[in-house]
Amino acid sequence: MGIGTTHTIALIGSGTIGLSLAALHLTKDPHSKVIIYDTRPDLEAYINSTLPGYLVNADVQQCMARLHLAPTLKDAVERADVVQEQGPENLPFKQSLWPQIETHAPSHTLFLSSTSGIPASQQCTSMRDPSRLLVVHPYNPPHILPLLELVPSPQTSPETTTRTQSFFARLGRVPIPLTRECPGFVSNRLAFALLREACSLVSQGIVSVQDLDSIVTSSMGPRWSVAGPFKSYHAGGGTEGLRGFMEKIGGTVGMCWEESEKGYRENNIVVGGEWQEEVCRQAEEAYGKSGVGDTAERDRKTRRVLEAVGERERGR
Ligand SMILES: NC(=O)c1ccc[n+]([C@@H]2O[C@H](COP(=O)([O-])OP(=O)(O)OC[C@H]3O[C@@H](n4cnc5c(N)ncnc54)[C@H](O)[C@@H]3O)[C@@H](O)[C@H]2O)c1
Ligand SMILES: *[C@@H]1O[C@H](CO)[C@@H](O)[C@H](O)[C@H]1NC(C)=O
Repeated sequence: MGIGTTHTIALIGSGTIGLSLAALHLTKDPHSKVIIYDTRPDLEAYINSTLPGYLVNADVQQCMARLHLAPTLKDAVERADVVQEQGPENLPFKQSLWPQIETHAPSHTLFLSSTSGIPASQQCTSMRDPSRLLVVHPYNPPHILPLLELVPSPQTSPETTTRTQSFFARLGRVPIPLTRECPGFVSNRLAFALLREACSLVSQGIVSVQDLDSIVTSSMGPRWSVAGPFKSYHAGGGTEGLRGFMEKIGGTVGMCWEESEKGYRENNIVVGGEWQEEVCRQAEEAYGKSGVGDTAERDRKTRRVLEAVGERERGR
């Protein structure tokens, strides 16, 4: 079985997430071979213009020499140890993809989907062996941010999950298995809960979009890269830990939770609600009509934060 020694990774779909995953494998494992299958007509030009920028602190030529484009899906997967798909986010595409991959890939190959929302239990309905499929949800951009959420379907075998976990751990990543499928997994559930509260506060006129962003980046943003909410408030509770925190500050916490729920109800903070126009207007006024800012600057700064908090950088 190849996972321990050989490293041929087939990436199906190489848009935003696929190219970033290619950079991850090429830079973190100097022996890996990456094979890309993507139907876009300008694939080679797109890769040539985008991928080298992701290969920071690496020998770009050496990395590019280990990258191969496959003319067909069969060519991509027939010698792969790991197949990860990040094609379009639609169910028919993913459902029809896996049986084809299953037909052509070796029997030891891991089958992984980067989906942000289509659970493995729905993707696997036409597979011969659904125990092989696992959702591995990256946090964009995965060549920089270490988290991978491993989300098994009820049919996914425990072995598939443990092998995937050790595979990504060996690349210096942080793979976290969830016990079961849930909409949004964990990272997006947390992020969108904060987004909802942020939209609510702005729509009530309590704070502007730009000031809210400043509040996050100058307080919980840096804090959360060092300690998550539980460890933070466990420390905040002093010698009594989280228990003490809830005893001392629990009243305020409860009041905030009630206010938040009242705010969502009274201001109809649902997707497409009236509040949305004003929040989007403020975002455009603060940051320009197009959201595509300088991702190179974002990525450079994020790397430095991760280096500061001790992310292990292997293969450098
Ligand atoms: N963008 C994110 O922040 C993010 C984060 C986590 C997970 N995801 C998931 O990753 C997947 C891809 O998202 P993205 O943002 O990279 O999208 P994208 O549109 O940038 O990339 C999709 C790629 O799939 C290719 N493609 C289309 N049809 C194909 C086919 N039949 N065979 C092979 N390739 C095909 C397209 O040419 C394109 O390059 C989705 O499932 C999404 O939910 C995205
Ligand atoms: C991409 O780069 C390779 C290597 O430099 C080159 O051979 C190839 O012609 C380039 N392709 C395109 C479409 O730019």
